[in-house]
Amino acid sequence: MTAGHRKPDGAIRGPALTFTGDPFRDGVEDTMVYESDAIVAFGGGVITHFGPADRVERELPADIEVKDYGRDALISAGFLDSHVHFPQTPMIAAAGEQLLHWLDKYTFPTERKYADKAFAASVAKVFLEECLRNGITTSCVYCTVFPQSVDALFEEAERLGLRLAAGKVLMNRNAPDDLLDTTQSGYDDSKALIDRWHGRGRLMYAITPRFAPTSTDDQLDAAGELWTEFPDCYLQTHVSESRSEIAWVRELFPERAGYLDVYDHSGLCRPRAIFGHGIHLTDDELHCMHRKGSSIAHCPTSNFFLGSGCFDVFRARDERRPVRVGLGTDLGAGTSFSVLVTLNEAYKAAQLNNHSLGAAHAYYLATRGTAQAMYIDDKVGSIAPGMEADLVVLDMKSTPIIDYRMGFVDDVHEALFVQMTLGDDRAVQATWVAGNLLYERAGR
Ligand code: GUN
Ligand code: ZN
Repeated sequence: MTAGHRKPDGAIRGPALTFTGDPFRDGVEDTMVYESDAIVAFGGGVITHFGPADRVERELPADIEVKDYGRDALISAGFLDSHVHFPQTPMIAAAGEQLLHWLDKYTFPTERKYADKAFAASVAKVFLEECLRNGITTSCVYCTVFPQSVDALFEEAERLGLRLAAGKVLMNRNAPDDLLDTTQSGYDDSKALIDRWHGRGRLMYAITPRFAPTSTDDQLDAAGELWTEFPDCYLQTHVSESRSEIAWVRELFPERAGYLDVYDHSGLCRPRAIFGHGIHLTDDELHCMHRKGSSIAHCPTSNFFLGSGCFDVFRARDERRPVRVGLGTDLGAGTSFSVLVTLNEAYKAAQLNNHSLGAAHAYYLATRGTAQAMYIDDKVGSIAPGMEADLVVLDMKSTPIIDYRMGFVDDVHEALFVQMTLGDDRAVQATWVAGNLLYERAGR
């Protein structure tokens, strides 16, 4: 496969994994591509060639340097994270509370600090560095109620050339006074940020009402109106994460049929809406999300950490009314930046729902599946000519026990499963963004 007119300016070589479709819908056989020795070449930030090394080598100009990662590597599309809170980076691993108390005790006091742009910029740098150390090349990010926290993140993402979505949290009630906006100021600030950032390079804006309890009906309506003005933005929020949250929403919105209906009533269930968690959604609500083309961000480390529940990805993806599902780290309720660790927990969440999440389905979720949930699977999430050159290179023998265990694997599925069960940030050898090497693990 080649992407005609573009000239390659770099290339990498090694075993490679990608997906040409959705294994949940069409099965693994027809959608998973594994090349035991591949070359991925890129130019101008876009993949120009992908295929078996012996063939692609002949197609490349003689002066292209091919970086060979060897047989113990795995080249994949960069990982995507469909739900994460960058301001919570300094409070990851805060012990002892479930969702609503955790927000009061840890989250709100931390998010207050982002009135200071310099502090926001320092955290944005650490956050994006950590994403790259874990092979995450695209994220959909919650900032804080302060617009300057959004500027700080976008400025750093732009410097790195990342494809990234983010937005200012909208929150006009049920939080400390100094963290509240108003319906009007939230709308105005969000609109100004859209004007400044949405569609600039690879950056995208996400309209971000935190969750129903912290917004009045009026604010949710205003978010819907803003989205109608800028329909190619995202809308991100939380839904049906914990039982006590759901009970609170029922008290706050007694006239609505259920939690999702609160959002639907304000026109927030559409394509490019990404709902965090959705653990306790009813069948009717999943039907609604399917019909409207909205997506769920599955955040297993967070769900286990807060004791929120156990999301059933196979129920959400039920072929009779499949809902788009992306993977999310949900820091700082989530406990790891590592996508491999997140897949490990996703596997356990599936087990507790009596399903087995095989490696192929898991790696699909972390790449093309999340890109599909974000409606950018035509740009990122797979390796093919014309796709943006965001790539992660895994080291399949990153620790002594993984190295040892790999001596007993029979096929690529088992090898991938070992990585997602035992691997972490140490397994990420290199991360490429738009054809630029932005992270390389120090030698071991
Ligand atoms: N619901 C509302 N805000 C949050 C948040 O910051 N994290 C999580 N996990 N759930 C939320
Ligand atoms: Zn969240």
